[in-house]
Amino acid sequence: MDSILVKGNGALNGVIPIAGAKNACLTLMPATLLSEEPLTLTNAPRLSDIRTMTSLLESLGVEVSALQDGKVITMSSHGTLNPTADYDIVRKMRASNLVLGPLLARLGHAVVSLPGGCAIGARPMDIHIDALSALGAEIDLRDGYLDAKTQGGLKGAVHEMRFASVGATENFVMAATLAKGTSVLKNAAREPEIVDLVQCLRRMGAEIEGEGTSTITIQGVTALRGATHPVVTDRIELGTYMLAPAICGGEVECLGGRIDLLAAFCEKLDAAGISVTETEKGLKVARKNGRVKAVDVVTEPFPGFPTDLQAQMMALLCTAEGTSVLEEKIFENRFMHAPELMRMGARIEVHGGHATVHGVEKLRGAPVMATDLRASVSLILAGLAAEGETVVSRVYHLDRGYERVEEKLLACGAHIERISGV
Ligand code: UD1
Repeated sequence: MDSILVKGNGALNGVIPIAGAKNACLTLMPATLLSEEPLTLTNAPRLSDIRTMTSLLESLGVEVSALQDGKVITMSSHGTLNPTADYDIVRKMRASNLVLGPLLARLGHAVVSLPGGCAIGARPMDIHIDALSALGAEIDLRDGYLDAKTQGGLKGAVHEMRFASVGATENFVMAATLAKGTSVLKNAAREPEIVDLVQCLRRMGAEIEGEGTSTITIQGVTALRGATHPVVTDRIELGTYMLAPAICGGEVECLGGRIDLLAAFCEKLDAAGISVTETEKGLKVARKNGRVKAVDVVTEPFPGFPTDLQAQMMALLCTAEGTSVLEEKIFENRFMHAPELMRMGARIEVHGGHATVHGVEKLRGAPVMATDLRASVSLILAGLAAEGETVVSRVYHLDRGYERVEEKLLACGAHIERISGV
């Protein structure tokens, strides 16, 4: 297993291109199952999660080809499709459950393994099941698999989710595009990745309104066509790299960055004393003088502060002046990076869903272990600002969500290298 070695090397200065969004791509790819005609995605990120989704789609009978080193992905679902998403692939990645809605809509039948436990909480499927059942699906649990069927196709319905789940919104919207009649989803999630999905579905001929709001209305159509769609900027990768100069000092321009993707996060950076300015090509982030100030953070569904940036924000607040409280409201058990940061000299107390961070002047390098995707990058950020050497092990998590992380940070003057097979 690879490790990443980082050394505190002073301020970071430079330009970082931001890739297409992993989480958007992971819902756009299953959308291909809704049409016999090909779907092409441009600006796709080159990540192991995307390769996992490729394998899953191939196992369902989709032909997938990648161009430009994976940046352009073309998928074709014109042949016979297999309705079963096998445990061996689904257990690797929870987002595999996003084939459930499209398979059901296209074939009237889907058998999708339950994702199993996950490092950041139990992550059940009840909201997905309720949403698809509202469209007329009959869903049973058999041998660890969700077996979903429809009698005579899905039918439009009004449904209100008990919580604005991102994945359940995506499954409902995709399924409803081919349902008979009109569907309305209330308390829908509003994440930019859902807006991106709807824009792609519209290019495919779907009739949808209200994306980006809590009520999405879908008028079912009989078939969808092929399309080409550019994947939206990855706001989590963007926020992560915005934190690099915030933690280390210096000035970094993130190409493709947009404030509207991360407004709540930018407000917190501002309160911490970090400047964020819009440029022609993206966002410029700078910390020129002094320590950052402590700020309190509560994670919430979009447009709130994203849970996927909580670990990285904690890395910043470890060296802030004063005490910050981070409250995690989306996932239980998402503070596993805290004990690792404490190995580097951070002062953190975790009580249930709250973490209190008492800022220290300096972190010290240490061997640490990545426990999940965002935790691993938070440890790299902390290591870049620490005195001495930090070795982050188990970085396979990192490769799920960050392409060319060493290259992007090296270009800004960071001391970072990958150690193979340690
Ligand atoms: C997506 C993102 C993930 C992000 C999360 C929250 C993708 C591929 N992943 O995950 O990076 O952290 O949104 O912004 O887009 N829940 C239930 N029952 C359900 C579904 C969810 O209780 O049926 C709970 C989950 O356990 C979790 C919370 O709802 O505590 C949020 O989950 P959800 O919004 O569904 O996240 P994902 O779509 O899995």
